[in-house]
Amino acid sequence: MSGSQQVGDVFAPSLEFATVANAGPELQAAADADRLAFWDTQARRLDWASPWSEVLDWSDAPVAKWFVGGELNVAYNCVDRHVLAGNGDRVAIHFEGEPGDTRSLTYHDLLAEVSKAANTFTDLGLVAGDRVAIYMPMIPEAIIAMLACARLGLTHSVVFGGFSSHALRSRIDDAQAKLLVTVDGQWRRGAPAPLKAAADEAVSGAESVEHVLVVKRTGIDVEWTEGRDLWWHETVEKASDQHTPVPFDAEHPLFILYTSGTTGKPKGIIHTSGGYLTQASYTHHNVFDHKPGTDVYWCTADIGWVTGHTYIVYGPLSNGVTQVVYEGTPNSPNEHRHFEIIEKYGVSIYYTAPTLIRTFMKWGRAIPDAHDLSSIRLLGSVGEPINPEAWRWYREVIGANSAPIVDTWWQTETGAIMISPLPGVTATKPGSAMAPLPGISAKIVDDEAHELGHGGNGYLVLDQPWPAMLRGIWGDMDRYRETYWSRYAEQGWYFAGDGAKYDEDGALWVLGRVDDVMNVSGHRISTSEVESALVSHPAVAEAAVVGAADDTTGQGIVAFVILRENVENTGDQLVKDLRDHVAVEISPIAKPRQISVVPELPKTRSGKIMRRLLRDVAEGRELGDTSTLVDPSVFEPIRVHRSQG
Ligand code: WTA
Repeated sequence: MSGSQQVGDVFAPSLEFATVANAGPELQAAADADRLAFWDTQARRLDWASPWSEVLDWSDAPVAKWFVGGELNVAYNCVDRHVLAGNGDRVAIHFEGEPGDTRSLTYHDLLAEVSKAANTFTDLGLVAGDRVAIYMPMIPEAIIAMLACARLGLTHSVVFGGFSSHALRSRIDDAQAKLLVTVDGQWRRGAPAPLKAAADEAVSGAESVEHVLVVKRTGIDVEWTEGRDLWWHETVEKASDQHTPVPFDAEHPLFILYTSGTTGKPKGIIHTSGGYLTQASYTHHNVFDHKPGTDVYWCTADIGWVTGHTYIVYGPLSNGVTQVVYEGTPNSPNEHRHFEIIEKYGVSIYYTAPTLIRTFMKWGRAIPDAHDLSSIRLLGSVGEPINPEAWRWYREVIGANSAPIVDTWWQTETGAIMISPLPGVTATKPGSAMAPLPGISAKIVDDEAHELGHGGNGYLVLDQPWPAMLRGIWGDMDRYRETYWSRYAEQGWYFAGDGAKYDEDGALWVLGRVDDVMNVSGHRISTSEVESALVSHPAVAEAAVVGAADDTTGQGIVAFVILRENVENTGDQLVKDLRDHVAVEISPIAKPRQISVVPELPKTRSGKIMRRLLRDVAEGRELGDTSTLVDPSVFEPIRVHRSQG
């Protein structure tokens, strides 16, 4: 493949790529001419059982209705229609287990499996509108369970398998899930790790849960509650593989996905069916330039995050993808694993996070260079800003100096990609997400809602509703309005929580969160969630948490704690106990990188912890303005503690 043309720091699409690209300049022209007509056209990518009367009803803003009155079945669109179109023998999923076991499912197989699961869920008494929690590693049954829910109009709530039983329980309770689907255990770095044990702990006393459906993945021993627990292989695998889907309203809730906000309690983001699937399908087709039947696609996310929902399940499958699903970590059994998988399956589109790219850089290019990666023709990045060095390395080493990179900005709340270059159309700059996609409108503004010119740092807002937008926060619509719509209430803009700027050439740069949300290896974690976890430990009186810059993970979690009276500071042991406690309360991914025990925390006269100053300390900078502090001398002991590590 011929390389794209580089002029200065701008990479223009190659003619070769542009000629056959799915996207062309006509997309933007169509969206500019009539945005709603544009989305009307995009919705026709899907099969609808009944048409809509109106593209957008925004009369109840900020709660949108897209494709009003239209009806469709999301699972039918992701599975059945490909079989009916004669593509049943195409592989949908190449599964690669961590221990090296493999399994390929065609669309035909997927239809049979989803139908069986749907029949089992129905036998268990579940009806449209009920909630199902899914707590599983990256195995095909996780995707099958999600699609079976979609097929029946059950609303799934996938909880990342790395979350603790506490975190699972609060999500089950909040959504009042009736069914929990899980596994006996999951493979982690060559060994089975229990998962049902955590699931058992989570559902003990959880009144909403009627059944726990368990996939046998590792064969490890599990506790069993008769009447409540069911094996997948004794139920789903024995069920009929015939199932007729019924259509649901375009606004039927498809899933709830919990994400961290600025307060301690995670928010259940609600997504619905028609608009969500339209934008998932449109973006997957155009941003990844996906060619069904030819490409082999691999998104390395976990289904526990929104990237897994939209770019492993709904977007790709609605477009008839052939994709790789890999269960394990990138270094099991060694650092070659991802490159071996790319080589083995001929992966042509690879979508991952900057934190992993930086890890690959650290491991050294000899590792990818030892493999034939010539199948790669497009690379994607998501989850955090990608630094220009990582971008260049990604393009040169993984993309053979020719594959276009799509740096995709979006959020759990936006449901699908919002800002990204279009391959074959957009000339890209390392580190920039470039521009809103056709059909999407964004602005960069200051506190007073003035649009900023080129060069000015401001807040990223979305000034027009979009099809995949969240429809609310589960059980708390006030919080929905408050969190996203109160900042620019007068203008009716969605406040994304990210800082951004346009550079002198008009390229858009996302600069990171402007609120108390940290981004650690692309995982969203709120400072107050970690603070609450620390304070729930008997030794801790008060805690302050900040995200400090980290070369590999983007940000690292740094905590400052004040101990309760009469608690002895046992040094390393105490720090270890506190880190473990956070893992139990939230997840190992939320463990602070560093915890300093301090006698006092810097506070403003009104009693607010000054996180900005703590960040300066954590990042080893000279202290900024301390004039509003009650007592600036509190920093002396904090600094001493820092230097002690
Ligand atoms: C950040 C993940 C810069 C951002 C899809 C956003 C990014 C948060 C990018 C959402 C990107 C995501 N460039 N920052 N390409 N993609 N982010 O909900 O801060 O897990 O607000 O969704 O990740 O994280 P979430």
